[in-house]
Amino acid sequence: MAEGPLYLVSNRGPVTFGPNGEIRRGTGGLVTALIGLASYRDVTWVASAMTDEDVEHAERNQGRPFAVEAPEGGEYRVKLVASDSDAYDRFYNIMANPMLWFIQHYLWDLSNAPDIRRNETEAFEFGYNAVNEDLARAVLDELEDVENPVVMVHDYHLYTLPALIRHARPDAFLHHFVHIPWSQPDSWRVLPSMMRREIYSGILANDIIGFHTRSYRRNFLQCCRDLMDLDVDMERGVVHFEDREVWVRAYPLPIDASAIQAVARRERVRRFEEELLGRRRDHLILRVDRADLSKNVLRGFSAFDVFLEQHPEFRERVTFIAQLMPSRTDVPEYAEYLERIEAVVAVVNHRHGSPDWMPIQLKLRDDLEEAVAAYKHYDVLMVNAMFDGMNLVAKEGPMVNERGGASILSENTGAHEELGEYALSVNPFDIQELADSIHAALTMDDEERHRRHEGLKSIITARNPGDWVDDQLADIRRKGGVE
Ligand code: F6P
Repeated sequence: MAEGPLYLVSNRGPVTFGPNGEIRRGTGGLVTALIGLASYRDVTWVASAMTDEDVEHAERNQGRPFAVEAPEGGEYRVKLVASDSDAYDRFYNIMANPMLWFIQHYLWDLSNAPDIRRNETEAFEFGYNAVNEDLARAVLDELEDVENPVVMVHDYHLYTLPALIRHARPDAFLHHFVHIPWSQPDSWRVLPSMMRREIYSGILANDIIGFHTRSYRRNFLQCCRDLMDLDVDMERGVVHFEDREVWVRAYPLPIDASAIQAVARRERVRRFEEELLGRRRDHLILRVDRADLSKNVLRGFSAFDVFLEQHPEFRERVTFIAQLMPSRTDVPEYAEYLERIEAVVAVVNHRHGSPDWMPIQLKLRDDLEEAVAAYKHYDVLMVNAMFDGMNLVAKEGPMVNERGGASILSENTGAHEELGEYALSVNPFDIQELADSIHAALTMDDEERHRRHEGLKSIITARNPGDWVDDQLADIRRKGGVE
């Protein structure tokens, strides 16, 4: 099969430049998903310039794509797009996060928030749409001499971009993957109808829209029917919009098992392991997350508190390591969440700790190698997100864990559709159930633990990110895209 160039477009790119010339890998599931594709195909990845140094690089390359060596290996062709800083701030810190993120994860406490005022409507118009326009222009420049180009758009930051590309290039094939949940129709009623229409018309300019799970796909189809009054075929996953058919599909994202295993063999990981094993108690509970409200960190600590209260025989014998990467800290809700996390940890540690035992060890940093060292040695992995698009930690942890560790997994994560059978499923709001699951996991007999752990690994290794991309490319071909 002849493979033409592909154009990826997302807010966060594969790399970001730091103040001391360092190149860091972009965080989050989106980058993890696409990084393989970007290094093995002829791909140009168009992304927002997110740091001052990104902007400098964009300027130095006169806004053209340039090659960059990724810190984890591999080379990418990236085109970083600098937007006006005020527009970008409104785009990222008001509209994308929290507004859309909170809608799609059911995080708004509706009797209190959000208030939609001029600040928010202007953030949509002059922030969200402005950045979508900047990125659309940057993509269109690249498509100038390319016939029937294939553009793969990613995530909730870019819902209005596809309509801009469709308008300028009706011959383009547009594929959009949404990495987060698609929530049910009523949650979208928070948005003024003008915004909602623009968002839905924007995303429906795509030829194919992909989600991690069948349930997000169903929610999206229902939204198109209920909120946009469109003709929808729920069975076939087709929305009729204007004079086109839009396919809506589920493509659950796998992890690259060999890549995470390679990280697990690194020397720096070994040093973290030594330190961890030196302090290890009988049992280790672990969570690794972005410090995001959707991850349900506070209830996780409350459940641990209840567990220690109800099972004092475990005191001094168990440690809970929480490695949380501070995220979106310019959004007040996130900054406040971090403060609440620290406060709850202090309370639980004060209530149960002793001079030489700290029940919860909080690590507020983004360090993949440190996290992987802990993955190798946990007895229990806690993934209790309220709602989560996929959750790759639920897949990475079991892949490198060496103790036949058990997984506690929220039934509202995308990963649960695949892994639920071998995990201890929890309702993320039920603190007592979570506390009971900690106890069940720590007292499970070896045979059962290993059976579950092997079950998890066999599902996790059944597919890889290459298969995920191939499934999408196959649908693109099926629908007539030249790729
Ligand atoms: O993978 C889900 C996701 O929301 C991505 O869209 C995003 O890039 C990532 O998590 C991390 O969030 P942020 O880009 O805001 O740091």
